[in-house]
Amino acid sequence: MLSKTIEAAINAQINAEFWSAYLYLSMAANFEADGKKGIANWFNVQFKEEQAHAQIFMNYLYSRGARVLLKPIEAVDTEWATPLDAFKATLTHEKKVTALINELYALAESEHDYATREMLTWFVNEQVEEEESAQELIDKFTLIGDNGFGIYTLDKELAARVYAEPSPLAGE
Ligand code: FEO
Repeated sequence: MLSKTIEAAINAQINAEFWSAYLYLSMAANFEADGKKGIANWFNVQFKEEQAHAQIFMNYLYSRGARVLLKPIEAVDTEWATPLDAFKATLTHEKKVTALINELYALAESEHDYATREMLTWFVNEQVEEEESAQELIDKFTLIGDNGFGIYTLDKELAARVYAEPSPLAGE
């Protein structure tokens, strides 16, 4: 049985994950409009991953007999002038998500809720990857600057990203 505090905190995290999904979908729309389909693809995959993160938390609440409560999703930005701007915004956002996951982890520990803490371990590791991939792309786009051929090449590279179901949903 989950405490009401943990239940409310996980519901807040579900909202944060859907907000993240909405943010990345907005970035995908921005780069579709800008003719950078590879970058749009990268953000579309990111959008799907964030939906999956929300689903993992939802499944956890279901498995504990707790109630999922979906709240309104706040508005997101709609314009990013360059890919570098978008990936910088991505890193800033992922650092905030890392802080939220860490707070949840600390809450679970303080309540001696070890099942919730264990479930959160996957997210702790996932956030390391999220920040690393955003930083890598910031580095690449910084390196190529305004070089059109560089942006074209990187856009093609990002077109290859495919969505893979996260292991907690794939049942691994
Ligand atoms: Fe759900 Fe990008 O962390």
